[in-house]
Amino acid sequence: MEGVIVGVESTAHTLSIGMVSESGELIPSESSVFTPEHGGIHPREAADHHSLVASELVSRVMDREGFAPSNVKAISFSQGPGLGPCLRVGASLARTLSKTWDVPLIGVNHCVAHIEVGRNQTGCDDPVLLYASGGNTQVIARAGSRYRVLGETLDIGIGNMLDKFARIHDIPFPGGPVIERLASEWASGGVSATSELELPYAVHGMDLAFSGILTAAISLSEREGLGASSWSLQEHSFASCIEVSERALAHTGKTELLLGGGVACNGRLREMAEIMCEERGATAHWPEKQYCIDNGTMIAELGRREIEMGRVTNLEDSAINPMLRTDSSPISWN
Ligand code: ATP
Ligand code: FE2
Repeated sequence: MEGVIVGVESTAHTLSIGMVSESGELIPSESSVFTPEHGGIHPREAADHHSLVASELVSRVMDREGFAPSNVKAISFSQGPGLGPCLRVGASLARTLSKTWDVPLIGVNHCVAHIEVGRNQTGCDDPVLLYASGGNTQVIARAGSRYRVLGETLDIGIGNMLDKFARIHDIPFPGGPVIERLASEWASGGVSATSELELPYAVHGMDLAFSGILTAAISLSEREGLGASSWSLQEHSFASCIEVSERALAHTGKTELLLGGGVACNGRLREMAEIMCEERGATAHWPEKQYCIDNGTMIAELGRREIEMGRVTNLEDSAINPMLRTDSSPISWN
């Protein structure tokens, strides 16, 4: 039977354990998401949640049909970036599993994992990635042995912006999917994009910003209602991401756009990506929703790539790195 690599994800609100076979077949994750009753995510509370559910998730993975510890070839975990207390829970769990099953440990870069799971799922080869999640919004492309960040948000991530807008209207985390539904319900009544619905549009060269649009959208919602403001918020903020992505395609000469991160679940963002790509003779790709949001499978997949290149992480080098950058991890595979 083919061996598997087990991946542990714990950078923020989600603790997730997934697997990939040695030949690269993705196996869906077992996940648990911390959802605070009030307010935003407190790192300590999320970490407590992860500690509480960890053994239950491990049991669920081990109870899967066909799972045998003797088949596990390595344990991969998110070493960063993310919330320190949350990362620490995942790293401890990974160290324990590696010791118990006597297999190598491999610490990986969470952002790079979003790219590699997308490449695995969609078959695209050398894409520009629009990585749009809660904490991150970056436009990335590979140059030699690094994934380079060509542009990124100068303040908050687009997902956090959507979640904050939702929270103001008593919509619980994650707010993105609810905003999507409200926006499309409002648009199905026939859109008339008048100047009353205009919001700030913040593209600074290759960089983006979302806190100004958030403030303006909150006051727009008081004047025009939640449906209209949700629609306008999506249109403006997604258009800014697509504009920077298009410029990245033009600068690099690449012809594939890959969407990744939780906001890549959004149907309107996907549609905009498709329209832009079609107009310039490029193609747009995205993984299944379960692999857009944070998941252990993508961590396993990046671990598989690293191990194929002969990389493992010694125990003394396995400390977490909350500030790890996308471009600080060397990439050696094709
Ligand atoms: P990262 O650590 O990579 O920044 P993250 O911790 O934000 O990731 P993800 O699971 O990648 O976690 O993304 C979660 C975000 O995705 C939330 O902000 C959520 O509102 C947003 N999201 C999920 N589905 C949708 C959707 N359909 N439309 C818009 N946003 C969505
Ligand atoms: Fe993520």
